[in-house]
Amino acid sequence: MKNVTVVLGAFYGDEGKGKVIDYLSADNKYAVRYSGGNNAGHSVEVNGIKFAFHLLPSGILYDNVKAILGNGVVIDPKVLIEEINNLKEKGYKVKNLYISEKAHVILPYHIILDETLEEIREVNKLGTTKRGIGPAYCDKYERSGIRMEDFVSKRFKELLKENINNKNLILKAYKKPKLKFSEIYKEYKEYAKILKPYVCDTVTMLHNAIRKGEKILCEGAQASLLDIDFGSYPFVTSSNPTIGGAITGTGIGAKYIGEVYGVIKAYSSRVGAGPFVTELLDETGDKIRELGHEYGVTTKRPRRCGWLDLVSIRYSCMINGLTGLCVNHLDTIGKFDKIKVCVAYEYKGKKTLDFSTNIDFLNNCTPVYEEFEGNFGDISKCRKFEDLPLKAQKYINRIEELTDTPVKFIGVGAGREEIIAR
Ligand code: IMP
Repeated sequence: MKNVTVVLGAFYGDEGKGKVIDYLSADNKYAVRYSGGNNAGHSVEVNGIKFAFHLLPSGILYDNVKAILGNGVVIDPKVLIEEINNLKEKGYKVKNLYISEKAHVILPYHIILDETLEEIREVNKLGTTKRGIGPAYCDKYERSGIRMEDFVSKRFKELLKENINNKNLILKAYKKPKLKFSEIYKEYKEYAKILKPYVCDTVTMLHNAIRKGEKILCEGAQASLLDIDFGSYPFVTSSNPTIGGAITGTGIGAKYIGEVYGVIKAYSSRVGAGPFVTELLDETGDKIRELGHEYGVTTKRPRRCGWLDLVSIRYSCMINGLTGLCVNHLDTIGKFDKIKVCVAYEYKGKKTLDFSTNIDFLNNCTPVYEEFEGNFGDISKCRKFEDLPLKAQKYINRIEELTDTPVKFIGVGAGREEIIAR
């Protein structure tokens, strides 16, 4: 039975995944995060109250939904406890949270190393979120990481000691202050006590749900072009936000996955360093940023903005096997008189539709644009595709044509109900 739906970012992040997730949540019994950590930032608005989540799946806001942090996630205990406490202050009991025993823990040395590595990098400064994500995944794959099941057990003390001894050797080489085991242990063993009740075998839990025919929603974080394998390496995050991550980061087999929705905006944005073929470093780019409120939820950094890049999106559709797209901010792009869409790249004098993550390729491509009529007017009340002005429909039709993927959801305003579902 295919009762699992995956919602993931199809560009460089911040596509507004929360909107579709929110729309689909009522129907699901499980909301699962499968990759990344608190480098993510999801804004959700429920009953007029705004929430900004970095770690928790947004499904946590529904009492009837079990919210899971899957094994593919890296967890900063301090941040997670803060998010739990914030929810409790707002009246939520947070009894519906489950943390995979296999998820890895972000510890203070990961954050210090993330900052230090960025500081000393001379080529390819990545512009990471400095949340310790890369170093935590490094430890996971190097096999010295501390998993949640270790963190909440007696083993934590000796594992932490060994890790701190090793990290101190590295930090000494970088001329950074020595870490004190006793201080870190004292603080983190308290966090472990708080989180212990939430830690469990989420794989068995999910499969019991699958057997019962209950619906599961996997909430992607970051996005396809930031994928460690398929993104614009090295300007990527350290996990797999693509469909493969939803499988390895949860323990759910491919045969259970039905819909895979990729979320994009009607324009493009990226935060952090790295190639961005349709980036606009002019007034139009500034106007998109202001109209779309393109400032990071996690780092508050202004996002780089540009026209929609269908060559990248087409690639995302392919590598993820997307069954549908969600196009957000159609209202925002509709405020321009004329809208451009990149329908091919020109590389070394030749037009191509084939995307490559090779940095030299991306840095030397120029976008081939098609121009569309804008001025869509107020489309925020449209709830059916046919309600949209023809010029807006034309824009969406071209996205479907070029990506060979149906547009199943369209965001027509900031409010949670301002969405067209087809
Ligand atoms: P890291 O994930 O903190 O290591 O950062 C690596 C790159 O991914 C940087 O360019 C970040 O700006 C970017 N990044 C990480 N998380 C997000 C996200 O949730 N949205 C958008 N960009 C992100």
